[in-house]
Amino acid sequence: MRVLVTGGAGFIGSHIVDAMLAAGHEVSVVDNLSTGKRVNLNPGARFFEADITGPGLESVFEAFRPEAVDHHAAQASVKVSIGEPARDLAVNAGGTVALLSLCRQYEVRRFVYAASGGTAYGEPQTLPITEDHQVRLLSNYGVSKYTGELYVDLARRTWGIETVVLRYANVYGPRQDPHGEAGVVAIFTGLMLAGQPCTIDGDGEQAKDYVYVTDVAAANVAALAAASGALVNIGTGTGTSVNAIHRELASAIPTSVPSRNGPPRPGDVRNTWLDNRLAKDVLGWSPAVDFARGIAETVAWYRERAATPPS
Ligand SMILES: NC(=O)c1ccc[n+]([C@@H]2O[C@H](COP(=O)([O-])OP(=O)(O)OC[C@H]3O[C@@H](n4cnc5c(N)ncnc54)[C@H](O)[C@@H]3O)[C@@H](O)[C@H]2O)c1
Repeated sequence: MRVLVTGGAGFIGSHIVDAMLAAGHEVSVVDNLSTGKRVNLNPGARFFEADITGPGLESVFEAFRPEAVDHHAAQASVKVSIGEPARDLAVNAGGTVALLSLCRQYEVRRFVYAASGGTAYGEPQTLPITEDHQVRLLSNYGVSKYTGELYVDLARRTWGIETVVLRYANVYGPRQDPHGEAGVVAIFTGLMLAGQPCTIDGDGEQAKDYVYVTDVAAANVAALAAASGALVNIGTGTGTSVNAIHRELASAIPTSVPSRNGPPRPGDVRNTWLDNRLAKDVLGWSPAVDFARGIAETVAWYRERAATPPS
């Protein structure tokens, strides 16, 4: 299948490109390189440097004629969404609408959407969180990503585009940027490898769902063949505390630099993890990489990258 991966120079999107190519698909990437990197681009995919909110997007559809769009380009930072809510909305909701409109115009059969299970459900009423849990949005980013979901659903019902929505837990693994506002695994790995202490927010017993990036990529490959209209959580079904992450990294690296505790992060959800049974039924997907192996592979990648001089 000809698959256009938006955001394919980014952390998750680049792993999806690798997995799609390995599965035998023809792949193109559209990315504006705002947070994505050229080094992440798989040379087996054709690259279009373009903005999903800009006028150049149509020429990508014209040139590649995708059969499926796997949409990962986004303003992916909660912090940026608070400072620049209009930009966040324009990229995450507006960009999704622009892509869906072109899918309609160019008769693209299928649209896969990267949604945020970490922000959609807010403070959970029940654990693990099932897909029918009430949506309770706590940030501009949560609203803009969820708005994208609504447009995807509308495009399925009114334009007949086949759609699959994947609500991810916290994704971690190689190529995640440890600078700025990134996932805790990337930040701690970067600090520990540099011999710096990590600051744990609050008591560190808050627990979230951490899913390995190649498992997320595999879910996207499966989504190309799933029943249209599927909306599924992509997570491990269990929570891992910040303290447990620190311990696992400290033994994998290893480091004896002690961590320190900072104040709890205001508004942080204490416990959240996603039920993944529907993904097994609908996609035939379940996570293959356990946390210890995921951490070991992540640390190995950061080490290798640190040892490679920039080209
Ligand atoms: N990282 C997570 O834990 C997580 C969890 C839930 C959902 N998601 C979603 O997964 C997707 C990928 O996230 P990520 O963590 O890999 O982030 P990322 O920042 O590494 O990837 C986003 C990519 O989109 C590109 N991009 C941004 N704005 C663009 C625009 N206007 N036009 C074209 N390209 C643009 C960036 O350059 C980057 O390559 C996003 O949609 C995000 O909302 C991520």
